[in-house]
Amino acid sequence: MDIKLEPKKLGDVDSDALVIVGFETAPPDVAAADQIKELYDSGEFSGKALEIAILHRPAGLKAKRLVLAGGGKRDKFNPAELRKLTGAVVRALKCKGIRSITLALDEPWRSDDFAAAAVEGAVLADVENDRYKTDPKKNEKQVESFSVLSGSPAAVNRGRILAEAQNFSRDLANEPANILTPMLLADRARQMSSEFGLECEILDQDRMRQLGMGALLGVAQGSAEPPALIVIRYQPAGTPASKDHLGLIGKGVTFDTGGISIKPSDGMEKMRYDMSGGAAVLGAMRAIAQIKPSIPVTALVPAVENMPGSKAQRPGDIVKSLSGKTIEVLNTDAEGRLILIDALTYAQRLGCTHLVDAATLTGAIVVALGNVNIGAFTNNEAFLKKLLTASQAEGEKTWQMPMDEEYKELLKSSFADLHNIGGRSGGSISAAWFIRDFVGETPWIHLDIAGTAWLDDAKPYMAKGATGVGLRTFVRLAESW
Ligand code: BES
Ligand code: ZN
Ligand code: ZN
Repeated sequence: MDIKLEPKKLGDVDSDALVIVGFETAPPDVAAADQIKELYDSGEFSGKALEIAILHRPAGLKAKRLVLAGGGKRDKFNPAELRKLTGAVVRALKCKGIRSITLALDEPWRSDDFAAAAVEGAVLADVENDRYKTDPKKNEKQVESFSVLSGSPAAVNRGRILAEAQNFSRDLANEPANILTPMLLADRARQMSSEFGLECEILDQDRMRQLGMGALLGVAQGSAEPPALIVIRYQPAGTPASKDHLGLIGKGVTFDTGGISIKPSDGMEKMRYDMSGGAAVLGAMRAIAQIKPSIPVTALVPAVENMPGSKAQRPGDIVKSLSGKTIEVLNTDAEGRLILIDALTYAQRLGCTHLVDAATLTGAIVVALGNVNIGAFTNNEAFLKKLLTASQAEGEKTWQMPMDEEYKELLKSSFADLHNIGGRSGGSISAAWFIRDFVGETPWIHLDIAGTAWLDDAKPYMAKGATGVGLRTFVRLAESW
């Protein structure tokens, strides 16, 4: 899909569909006012969020159709609402074989934030996840161009970069696990890095053994697929203004069976998205390479498959992490935290001064926050504040979870320095405490995206499957440093 900025007059737009936003209170006052008023009066269109109505041959316009898109309540309209709305418009019009779409926004929505969000919504909506369908007709209906009339070229470009990066992440997370093994994930990371001028290094099993990443390797040992630790570096041009160095760490479990503590089979197929944190981090680097923020950023993705093979680790096994601390593995299904801590320790050794990890870490966060908010945990309130500002600007809802010292007690082990589960109550908090135990005083944020990284049902604005959540927050955080 071509993304264009076309500062034209409404009457000069000649695309298949000219889209304007109609709110709940009053019809928009543009061309074809009588026809629009009729739609409102007849109750065919009320302006409710994501509602769509189509007028053919609108009076006084060159465009073939005028599309009214519901913006909901006028005073609640923001970039996040517009992102969903353009997505819903693209998906609805695409089904009808419409090929060119132009969005016209009124004042006060002609700003850059709205233009970028509009483009993001359109690009994110244009994904079907039908790569493995053999239907020859599947690509017949395509939107060829999406144009906006307002905003700066930089904003439109930023929107396109972010959404394309997010689609790259979603594509990785949607891939079935027989295709996307840890090594293939590493290959894709390498390819992406060379395409966008990033430095990429893959640590293999031997290297990780030399370094002493016993926690990560313990998880990997039950699978025939070798693990990989993906490291990607972005270095800004010129001398950086400060010594700060952002580390983005993403859980990369290409499939999580639970290992010997095996999961029930119902819904297990979804566990291919257990590398969504890793995918978000890789996608963030793809965008960062193009947007070029002024802070150095290093991404680390520990990639493993959690399988119950004959060499698999057993409950009760004790492993030694890269940090030197020992861990009693009481449950092999609590594997995410085990691979993350070795990657986090390594990130610190590489000089990262600020750490953010993203992981589909616990079912408990889904119980706590459902599929709406990312759960955020930190050892540094000021750092989290920065991230929350970024996530809010990007419309990626994030909710801070408590980290009282009492929860840490749950991890005391009789036989090692700590064990890897904290019990059912407060499960996402004890998981966060486990990680926190390894980062020390380094400012750190953990994002539990288990509830937000996957859509069980398609939304009007997005296909079923991986969402790519977290990526836009990462990029905005780096940009706003
Ligand atoms: N990958 C899962 C968490 C998960 C659950 C992600 C549901 C998405 C949806 C993780 O590795 C896991 O299995 N966590 C366990 C931890 C428990 C054994 C302490 C969980 O949440 O049940
Ligand atoms: Zn697990
Ligand atoms: Zn997992």
